[in-house]
Amino acid sequence: MIYLDNASSTMMYDDILDKMMPFFKYRYGNPSSIHKMGRLSNTAIKNAKKQIACMINSKPEEIYITSGGTESNNTVIHGVSYNKYQNHIITSSIEHDSILLPCNKLEKNGFRVTYLEVDDNGLINTQNIEKLITDKTCLVSIMHVNNEIGTIQPIRKISEICNKKNVLFHSDTVQSAGKICIDVQNSKIDMLTLSSHKINGPKGVGALYIRNGVQLPPFIIGGGQQNGFRSGTENVANIVGFGIACKLTKTNMLKNFMHFNMLKNYLSYRILHEIPHTVLNGDSKMRASNNLNFSFLGINGEDLITKLDEYEIFVSTGSACKSNTSKASHVLKSMGLSYERINSSIRITIGIHNTMYEMKQMVVTLKKIIEELRHVSPLKHKYNFK
Ligand SMILES: Cc1ncc(COP(=O)(O)O)c(C=O)c1O
Repeated sequence: MIYLDNASSTMMYDDILDKMMPFFKYRYGNPSSIHKMGRLSNTAIKNAKKQIACMINSKPEEIYITSGGTESNNTVIHGVSYNKYQNHIITSSIEHDSILLPCNKLEKNGFRVTYLEVDDNGLINTQNIEKLITDKTCLVSIMHVNNEIGTIQPIRKISEICNKKNVLFHSDTVQSAGKICIDVQNSKIDMLTLSSHKINGPKGVGALYIRNGVQLPPFIIGGGQQNGFRSGTENVANIVGFGIACKLTKTNMLKNFMHFNMLKNYLSYRILHEIPHTVLNGDSKMRASNNLNFSFLGINGEDLITKLDEYEIFVSTGSACKSNTSKASHVLKSMGLSYERINSSIRITIGIHNTMYEMKQMVVTLKKIIEELRHVSPLKHKYNFK
């Protein structure tokens, strides 16, 4: 099988499970217990927080463990909603739903949310941000890399604007971690979201970085774990696995970057040159090293995914993209792409385990399937397909 859906989830690094196993089997002490078993678990969490912090150049005490990217994003939006005097958020129209839906909910409760538009390459115009910030603005939240089209937003520049205007800046870096170097000291980010399973760690665990001094109320309350910020007994095994994933991600960053780029460039070149009526969606330069999003005009993206699946090749659409336009990708829609282009799009995301041989297989299979699908396409005559 060829797995090319690494923006959805990734395969764990080989030795992570082995390091997690003791915490499932015999190191089951509650990290809040004061006896030795508890202390062992607590130490394992502290060590993992150091590894997570090291990946983004923060302090370990600025890392709060969550159940993943969704919870971290919800925590931020929910947290700022307690601000009595400032009820304005600036975000973008192409954020992940774990930012957009909590924002939509706040709007129903009287918040004002500005959704920054993107150009036809999926890039935000940063010049607008400064003008849009008012004394009512409590948060700017802009993702680093988009999960569907891989576009890289200039978060350093945005963080500088927010810093100058004294407004909190949050970035969802779920898709950029491991692909682009993140340094919270250098880029003045106040809050940042991470997810373990996107960087070859276990699922169901992630983190929210909160800069020392930033006040954010907790989203989940109860037993008072993690200094009262995020209650609930910690999933020690998962946290240990996440910590190792961060360590390996940091160590292998350059090697992986070169690997992703080599495979991406090869695949992209061959697809664009050998499959006619194909367009790359998203910016070709300001783009994550592992992301490709193509529209193969004249066919339906979901049909293509289903056919590839029969050959044990796994890719995805950015989001559910059915004949019903309301379900079409909100990202591609925001870029102003035609329905036909959105409908024919698929996302290919490369991972650390992919090989050049797999890319070659992918091209051969893709060409064969696309020819078959185009042969029976209702748009056959429009494009002169054989
Ligand atoms: C950009 C982005 N943010 C947040 C999430 C949610 O992360 P998790 O699956 O850890 O909840 C995802 C997952 O696809 C994502 O791509």
